[in-house]
Amino acid sequence: MQSSEPSGQRPYDVLVIGGGIIGLVTAWRAAQRGLRTALADPEPGRGAAGVAAGMLAAVTELHHGEQTLLALNLASARRFPDFVAELQEVSGQDTGYRACGTLAVALDADDRAHLRELHTLQRQSGLESEWLTGRECRRLEPMLAPGVRGGLRVDGDHQVDPRRLAAALVTACGRAGVVVHRAAAERLSVVRDRAAGALLADGSELVADQVVLAAGSLSGRLAGVPPEVLPPVRPVKGQVLRLTVPPSYAPFLSRTVRAVVRGGEVYLVPRENGELVLGATSEELGWDTTVTAGGVYELLRDAHELVPGITELPLTETRAGLRPCSPDNAPLLGPTALPGLLLATGHHRNGVLLTPVTGDVMADVLTTGELPGPARPFTPRRFAPVPPPVRQERQELSA
Ligand code: GLY
Repeated sequence: MQSSEPSGQRPYDVLVIGGGIIGLVTAWRAAQRGLRTALADPEPGRGAAGVAAGMLAAVTELHHGEQTLLALNLASARRFPDFVAELQEVSGQDTGYRACGTLAVALDADDRAHLRELHTLQRQSGLESEWLTGRECRRLEPMLAPGVRGGLRVDGDHQVDPRRLAAALVTACGRAGVVVHRAAAERLSVVRDRAAGALLADGSELVADQVVLAAGSLSGRLAGVPPEVLPPVRPVKGQVLRLTVPPSYAPFLSRTVRAVVRGGEVYLVPRENGELVLGATSEELGWDTTVTAGGVYELLRDAHELVPGITELPLTETRAGLRPCSPDNAPLLGPTALPGLLLATGHHRNGVLLTPVTGDVMADVLTTGELPGPARPFTPRRFAPVPPPVRQERQELSA
């Protein structure tokens, strides 16, 4: 990976602030379009993707009122096979993509009613899912608890390993000529009412025609960004556990298994290498990333009700990450009201799923200035402050 200043201090075409999977895919795709691209991050490839389970759950994580987001999620899910094939070819690294499908199950009457509701919404949205009895669920996944009351089989919701995805993107960026500055951006530079680069923590000053703020939940905190364009993202904590399925226990689970237990989401994502990811809490606790006894207890308790055999498995890792959440749970993509400043943040629960489409959309807007059709609803301008009524109108009204 390159790490030097551009020759002759020529400005970059694009500076991406943030080296999580969203920043990396943006930089990679921009560089592939021939843009001279730099990326600033002290540890590219880390961030929320280092914690996330990597479910590509467009259908099983559908919520009422999120039909517009569904269209973007599905567009990205469709791109995944080609995206990982290209990334694996370019980087020479495996991403752990697994077309394994998902089974969402119910443990009691309330869960069952919730799943029935989800099934109705899925059908109304034209999505494929099949209602199964408890017995049919256990036939598919024999490790499920005998008390499972029914479930939804969704063969199109797959998984990828976000850590491997991030590592492959770091390599792909290097191979595409992205210049990586291993330092945090401290301040956005604004020159004549236009974003013009950034000052980094190592003292370097990068100059760029366009700046993409893709710093996950930190995106709302960058100094120098005018308050009216600062992205309204907040951190939502997720605690995630990793267990290991010894070879003698395999096959333990053959697909992602998930449920809503006592109102809390729990999911188990089995990797081909024996890792079993168990997630996740959803906590509004600001910047706190402590792994708590309560969080671990609740995840294990709920997962144990679902798949009792998990208590036999070695617990190998406990982590907490921060999802970048916007006021409508959807991402912010594209130009802001400050010329030269674009956003790629706020992906909340869908950051991994939305990686391919985000890369394509951001490369389009960086090269043409226009957000492509499917991404237009996600313009950051939807959160622009409403201007006060003009004085003249008030005078007319009182006349
Ligand atoms: N999409 C899974 C999660 O955010 O926990």
